[in-house]
Amino acid sequence: MLTPVNLHLNPAALTDWQNPQYQTDTLVILAGRTDGQWQWPAQLPEALVSQLQARLESRDFEAKNGEVLSLGQLADSAFRDVLVVGTGSAEKYGPAQVQSLGSQLSRMVNGCQGHARVLVNDLPPALQPGLLLAALNGGYQFQDYKSKKSPPKLSDLTFYGMDAGLSLDFIKAVHAGQSLARDLGNTPPNICHPEYMAEQAQQLAADFDGLLEISVLGMDEMAELGMNAFLAVAKGSERPGRLVTLQYRGAGDDSAPVVLVGKGITFDTGGISIKPAAGMDEMKFDMCGAAAVLGIMRALCLAGLKINVVGAIACAENMPSGRASRPGDIVTSMAGKTVEILNTDAEGRLVLCDTLTYVRRFEPALVVDMATLTGACVVALGKVVSGLFSPDNELAAELIEAGLQSHDRVWRMPVLEDYQELLDSPFADVGNIGGPTAGAVTAACFLARFTEGLRWAHLDIAGTANLSGANKGATGRPVPLIMQFLKNRAAT
Ligand code: BES
Ligand code: MN
Ligand code: ZN
Repeated sequence: MLTPVNLHLNPAALTDWQNPQYQTDTLVILAGRTDGQWQWPAQLPEALVSQLQARLESRDFEAKNGEVLSLGQLADSAFRDVLVVGTGSAEKYGPAQVQSLGSQLSRMVNGCQGHARVLVNDLPPALQPGLLLAALNGGYQFQDYKSKKSPPKLSDLTFYGMDAGLSLDFIKAVHAGQSLARDLGNTPPNICHPEYMAEQAQQLAADFDGLLEISVLGMDEMAELGMNAFLAVAKGSERPGRLVTLQYRGAGDDSAPVVLVGKGITFDTGGISIKPAAGMDEMKFDMCGAAAVLGIMRALCLAGLKINVVGAIACAENMPSGRASRPGDIVTSMAGKTVEILNTDAEGRLVLCDTLTYVRRFEPALVVDMATLTGACVVALGKVVSGLFSPDNELAAELIEAGLQSHDRVWRMPVLEDYQELLDSPFADVGNIGGPTAGAVTAACFLARFTEGLRWAHLDIAGTANLSGANKGATGRPVPLIMQFLKNRAAT
């Protein structure tokens, strides 16, 4: 469900503090403290600053990043309530601080009725988009399956004192795309199955009629193309698999597209190599790569980036059944390579290898796949950074840079020849698992065998696509990363 708040930027300073229209509004003031010295928004008049400082002295407020204090009404101001939000010390102000500040800010103001107006203190222009995106994302709620829904209270959020050149369009587009990715990830697996994903893609193509061209392949079409690795996964389910491509043409016809490939396992039981029961519900998030691709396509259409992009999503449900693949089965992939399925729980690479072969028809400038591919990646990197695997140094550098800019970061891992022998099979060209060590690396190395001659990067988002525990839910990563990457490319 989308954040219902309307976000505005007001380049002018707030001067009419006593305007009665503010009587139903909340004023939010960002305040920093460096070496005991307060940093107030430049547009805050002296009289208000001294009033605030006097009131803060009696309270235990240190202006630590994200610290919030509600002051009620101030003299000489019409605002019903004034909230002071700490930004911490200026030297420590970086993307991470801005992100937590944005989420905290949004948590505070989303509890307020009506319109919240935020006065920003010195915030370097490069960090401002991050604050706005975090503020929007913080308002995300997924309550489609709650019988009692809590309607949004906040209607409008206005920021004063931001960089005059800042455009909201791109930020809103990323937020909308990220929210779609989160919605799809959070939707339960009895609803969100491969055909549902294809219908969502169809809906997207209808919403952006003329901007997106869609193609949907079913089981028979995939069989005709020889996509037996993909089908080896899909055939175990009552729900048929779907391979969907969406083409976005923002640049001229002669410019080669960036192709994005998403793993869309709508539920991963492990198949015959069945997973243990604990926490298996989280395997509904195994389609978050595909959800991110759909989110990116939506964001692209909204932002209107001048670049050609193809999004391909490989959707299947990994189930144990009488028709499921067995460990030991050998299938011939679309590329002609034979694969020994030693573990049916290594299903992501099976649907991806055929999809990576299929997308060659688009003659891509480069291919980036995103997949909740391995538990080993979660062990290695946790939930902070996504694993980046690419033999292409320049492409890797571009993705790392886009990750820093968007604060949706990646960390490079190896795709070296030396690991390839771990995938050797005595019976087929390649096995689908590489033994007990370096699981995230051997998964990437498996994909590398199907991307020869392409510029290619793989993102293992198994740790970053969703949170667990009390905050369980899809994050919508890596939508911000890829949108930044595409924006950088469109500009050059
Ligand atoms: N979808 C899982 C990976 C995963 C695990 C994502 C935990 C998020 C959290 C993937 O299909 C899988 O099962 N991978 C196996 C590979 C193994 C059998 C070689 C794994 O990581 O255990
Ligand atoms: Mn699996
Ligand atoms: Zn999986």
